[in-house]
Amino acid sequence: MLGMTTVRRLEHRMCRHRAELGGFVILPEARGTGLARRIVGVAGDWARELGCSVLEVSCRGGTRAEAAYVGLGFQVWGRLPGGFHDRGGVVFDEVRLWMALSAEAV
Ligand SMILES: CC(C)(COP(=O)(O)OP(=O)(O)OC[C@H]1O[C@@H](n2cnc3c(N)ncnc32)[C@H](O)[C@@H]1OP(=O)(O)O)[C@@H](O)C(=O)NCCC(=O)NCCS
Repeated sequence: MLGMTTVRRLEHRMCRHRAELGGFVILPEARGTGLARRIVGVAGDWARELGCSVLEVSCRGGTRAEAAYVGLGFQVWGRLPGGFHDRGGVVFDEVRLWMALSAEAV
């Protein structure tokens, strides 16, 4: 296995059109190869099959992940300053992003 993500449909009755990626990781040797785009494509297909029109993800701000998600077509909708306190006292913003899976999203 070179990469993975989970896809979770939100459970609240008002949010069931939304699915969220979690634990998205690609092994270092497979980064920058197009695998991230393929995984997001498959995850989006899966979410659509569940009936979702919005795909969401969050990450640490200013990291490769943020640049990659924007490069993959996600749009930033929120940024919580200092949202993540990592090991060693390193602080990151939490960045939340979304993409439309269908015209019904907006
Ligand atoms: C986040 C992660 C899954 C992204 O995978 P990746 O292989 O690094 O992503 P890529 O380099 O393929 O970038 C994705 C797309 O964004 C584009 N992109 C990346 N950085 C970019 C930048 N600075 N400007 C413009 N486009 C950019 C890439 O060109 C690529 O598009 P393409 O498929 O058309 O080539 C991977 O870096 C990873 O596992 N990181 C460690 C774990 C992690 O931080 N996970 C996120 C937790 S939320």
